[in-house]
Formats: sequence, C-alpha cells, structure tokens
Amino acid sequence: MATAEVKTAEKTSASVEGPRDALTIVDHRTGRSYDVPIANGTIRALDLRQIKTGPGDFGLMSYDPAYMNTASCTSRITYIDGDKGILRYRGYPIEQLAEKCSYLEVSYLLLYGELPNAKQYEEWVHNITYHTMIHESLKKLMDTFNYDSHPMGMLIATVAAMSTFYPDARDIHDPASRTRQTYRLIAKVPTLAAFAYKHSLGMPYVYPDNDLSYSENFLNMLFKMPAAHGYRPNPTLVKALDVLFILHADHEQNCGTAVMRSIGSSHADPYSAVAGAAAALYGPLHGGANEEVLKMLREIGSVSRVPEFIAEVKQGKGGKRLMGFGHRVYKNFDPRAKIIKRMAEEVFSVTGRNPLLDIALELERIALQDDYFVQRKLYPNVDFYSGLIYQAIGIPTAAFTVLFAIPRTSGWIAQWGELLGDSEQKIARPRQVYLGPAERSFVPMEKR
Ligand code: ACO
Repeated sequence: MATAEVKTAEKTSASVEGPRDALTIVDHRTGRSYDVPIANGTIRALDLRQIKTGPGDFGLMSYDPAYMNTASCTSRITYIDGDKGILRYRGYPIEQLAEKCSYLEVSYLLLYGELPNAKQYEEWVHNITYHTMIHESLKKLMDTFNYDSHPMGMLIATVAAMSTFYPDARDIHDPASRTRQTYRLIAKVPTLAAFAYKHSLGMPYVYPDNDLSYSENFLNMLFKMPAAHGYRPNPTLVKALDVLFILHADHEQNCGTAVMRSIGSSHADPYSAVAGAAAALYGPLHGGANEEVLKMLREIGSVSRVPEFIAEVKQGKGGKRLMGFGHRVYKNFDPRAKIIKRMAEEVFSVTGRNPLLDIALELERIALQDDYFVQRKLYPNVDFYSGLIYQAIGIPTAAFTVLFAIPRTSGWIAQWGELLGDSEQKIARPRQVYLGPAERSFVPMEKR
C-alpha cells in the first residue's frame, strides 16, 4: 500500500475543502479539521491518532470489534467480492481452478503466485509426496489419545507437536527452512488426519503410499484395511475430494487465517501457528459448521419437519441458527457452495443418494424465499453441502473439519509467508477501550 505522508492541514470547520485523495475530518470538540490520506479505499487508523483535544489526550482510535471494517494487511493471494459472489486465487476464478486443476497445482499457485509449469509441478508433487511419512514417535503420541477424542483435537495437538520434531522450523527467516516446513506441513497434515481417524476406530494406521496422488493417498490411508487386498479409492470420489480441497484452500482474512497471521507475527514457528489457526477453524461458527450442518439435518429428521425448524431458527429459540447459512463476506451467494452442490450429484451417482440431501434441499428452498433470510442476505455457505459429500464418501461427522484443515494448510502457509515478507507488518497487538473501574485502593479481605 502506498504510504502517503500524513499531511495534517489544520483548518477552521468552515473550510473543509481538501486534497482529492483525502478524507477531511472535522473534530467538533475542537473545531479543527484534518486531511487524512485515502489509499486503496482505506484510511490508516494511525492517522486518527493526531486528532486530539489537547496535549494530554492519547488521540483518536477506531473501535471495531470482530474486525467488521478493518483491513489488517495488504495481500496478493485471494480476492473475494462478497456482493457479487466472486472468489479468485491469485486472480484465477475459483470455478476455473476447480474444473481444470489438481489441488497440488492450486496449493503451488497460492504459495508461489503462479501456476506451475510441467517441470515445477513434477518437482512440487515429488517433494510433497516424499514428505508424507510422520515420525514414529508422533504416531505414538497419537496412540495416547482416548478412542473417543475429537479428530480436530488430535490434529491440533499433533500439528503443534511437530514443532518439537523439527526445531529448524524456528528459523523462520531462512528461506530454505521455510520451504522444508512447507513441504512437511502440506504433506503430513493428511497423514495425521487419517491416523486420527484410524485411532478413533481402534484400527491400525495405514502408511502413506507414494504411488498415489495426494487425494487418493488420503482416502487410502482412511479406508484401506491392512488385511484386505485390492482397495483402490474410486476415481470419482478422488476427484470430488480434490475439488473440495481446492475450494477450501484459502479464503483471505477469515478467523483462522487471522490467527495464523497473528501467531506468525510473534515469529513463532509455523507448526505452532498452524495449530492455532486450526483451533480457530474448529469452532462451529467457522470450519466446525460442516459438522453442525449434519447434526442439524439429523435433528430435523424429515422434510416435513423443515418448516417447524425454520420457525424455531427465526424465533432464535435456544440461539438456534441455520447452520451452513450466512457469511461475513458473501452477501449474495458463496461460489464454493454452488460448485459443491453440483458436485454432490456426481458423488451420489457412485455412493447412492444421501437421504439427508432432501432435507437440505427443502431447507434451502424455504430459506431462500423467507423474508428473515432474504433481508439478512443469508445464503448457503461452503459448509452447507460439503458435509453431505463427506458423509457419502464414508467420512464420520466428527472428522469433517479435519477435511477442511488439510487444504487450508496451504492457504495458511501462503498467508504466513506473505506476512513475513511484508515490511509494514509488526507483532499484532490490538488496542482496547478500557471501561473498567478507575483507580481504587486495595480493600483487605476482612473488610470486603
Ligand atoms: N441462521 C439464522 N440467522 C442467522 C444466521 C444463521 N445461520 N446467520 C446470521 N443470522 C442472523 C443473525 O441472527 C443476525 O440477525 P439480527 O440482525 O436480527 O441480529 C444477522 O443474521 C447477522 O448475523 P451476524 O451473526 O451478525 O453475522 P456475522 O457476519 O457476524 O456472522 C456467520 C457470520 C458466523 C457465518 C453467521 O452467519 C453464522 O453463524 N452462520 C452459521 C454458522 C456457519 O455456517 N458458519 C460457517 C461460515 S463459512 C466458514 O467459516 C467456512
């Protein structure tokens, strides 16, 4: 972002004409006016600090809980236009990438800014493929979890533990180290995810197979039984999973990515930062929503119960929400949800139709014509249909968010790399507005 020099023209409130690319702010407390530069459709919050009532005044701050209108960085990775339903990675529309690319091509694009040529792609796939094994002690760590531990809890803990296996990861300013950690993270997260699933079933782990593609290998690690011969993931399901990975790979400054950048800003190693980002993703308002959608569809149980459920949501009964609906940025439609809905039919042609699909379709039909949802611009998001596909593929509900974390790892690392290369960034440290008690004297316990 162009760092326009802050030029503060003090004026009387009567004269408010200023430069074209500036915002003139009149402070009625003092009668002074200020020209604050505008660049890329933003003003700098720090430029407000000069607005003071007197020498002892700290200066004006902006107050923006939940970052509703605050850009925390510049980025060249992902573009979203929420009103038009546009999502692009490095300028390429998500629809084209989902149709024409493999997930590993897209992860390369996110990380390096360009689609790989044939040689670059071959090397990239090789490097990821040859880092999929995990340390045997990490496998033993997985063994220590209870059989009913949530797969996201196991994933978060084991990703964090990876920082202890690769102490070179702390050398975040060494490009060669960063590259090694990038290979390791993208390659090993699926292995950890699959091991977490196998552990929850009490089944032996299936090691990665270098003859298989990224998505094929993941399905193999999930569903192959060591005793059974001849398991080969169905190509339609492999393709569907790969497309789902592409759709989930990045989504600019959402909750999880903001955490990745925030942890990264303290120069922690990337495993600790990815573990933190995954923890943010785990929440039901974020990536955990895909799991909640399935629970909701099961709770509704039948198409005839849909109107009653919608009525309960509108009354806000028990804080009930229509899970998989609504988005902070998309206020028209989520382009990822459109692609997933189309793909669901292909998957069901192999697996058989998921009986919950009819309930989902009816929910969507009613919600899209109901004033409550229309006025609030609530549309199906990426999580509304993805869970139905995961379930059809045979993945248990509790593992859905893990399937989100696998591809998002590429986006997190791309955003982390961009952060470290951005000379404007410093340790993330928001301000607060203190509303607690003013200074008061200590009261001994017997007098309280
Ligand atoms: N069902 C019912 N009402 C909803 C829903 C919903 N899913 N989402 C928002 N609303 C209502 C709110 O109650 C609020 O109504 P009000 O104005 O009468 O108070 C209004 O719509 C605005 O909602 P906010 O919560 O202020 O919107 P925000 O941008 O903060 O939240 C969020 C976005 C968290 C995604 C929200 O829509 C939600 O909770 N959706 C359900 C969970 C979900 O599907 N999350 C996945 C998002 S995609 C992702 O993270 C990968």
